[in-house]
Amino acid sequence: MKKIYLYGNWKMNMLPFEGEEFCRTLGNKMQGDIYSSEMIQVCLFPPFLSIPEVLKSLPEDVPVTCGAQDGYFEDRGAFTGEVSMDMVKAVGCSHVLAGHSERRHIFGESNEIVAKKLAKALEAGLKAVLCFGETLDERESGKTLAVAREQLESAFSGLEKDKGCGIILAYEPVWAIGTGKNARPEDAQEVCGFAAKMAEEHFGTHPKIPVLYGGSVKESNALDLLSQHDIDGALVGGASLKVDSFLGIYENYRTISV
Ligand code: 13P
Repeated sequence: MKKIYLYGNWKMNMLPFEGEEFCRTLGNKMQGDIYSSEMIQVCLFPPFLSIPEVLKSLPEDVPVTCGAQDGYFEDRGAFTGEVSMDMVKAVGCSHVLAGHSERRHIFGESNEIVAKKLAKALEAGLKAVLCFGETLDERESGKTLAVAREQLESAFSGLEKDKGCGIILAYEPVWAIGTGKNARPEDAQEVCGFAAKMAEEHFGTHPKIPVLYGGSVKESNALDLLSQHDIDGALVGGASLKVDSFLGIYENYRTISV
């Protein structure tokens, strides 16, 4: 049975008190669910300022971890507005996203910047969720796998083989994000399988690097996507903002983990 990953990216949503409410409800529902909590790894990615509230509101025996949506590649200095990976770690985060498509496309992050962020996250001892994926134009012009290759090759290039244990991949086709149009499971599998193979070629087979799918994942499609050979879970945006819809995905995953 594969380990399942359920990650929720809140993006620029959820004030601290909203995060707190969400986590109290989530905590109450998940408390005592020992077996599935071992099988399903849940991580929330709140905005920076809501992270302390989220961490405080999760009961100790609920195995939900917390990650940041971004982190910078320098350690400290005159970088107004930035947050270092050590800071992310110091507030209690276990994970950080790198290369989310909104960072790439709205904030102009290049493959080079993403590679530096990924390397710094791993150096800081964080688990790094490396996001990659094509735009609609790129898909329609048959470049889906070429884009995946370019983004992953660039991110992996400076990393030693032993760094693989800190990486989680997230295939997020840009055209599926926030649009309600998820990739068909077999199309998502094609790209996730390709990414898993690239990761294996660079980092080896042990431990296996998980590959998540993100892009309009919700209760009704999460299991179909997860049933694909190389999809180990979901990076959820919109459906992670309401505790009921997030728990709906969790409950669906639970049915196959017990
Ligand atoms: P949606 O689930 O809202 O499509 O967002 C996906 C995403 O970008 C998660 O990082």
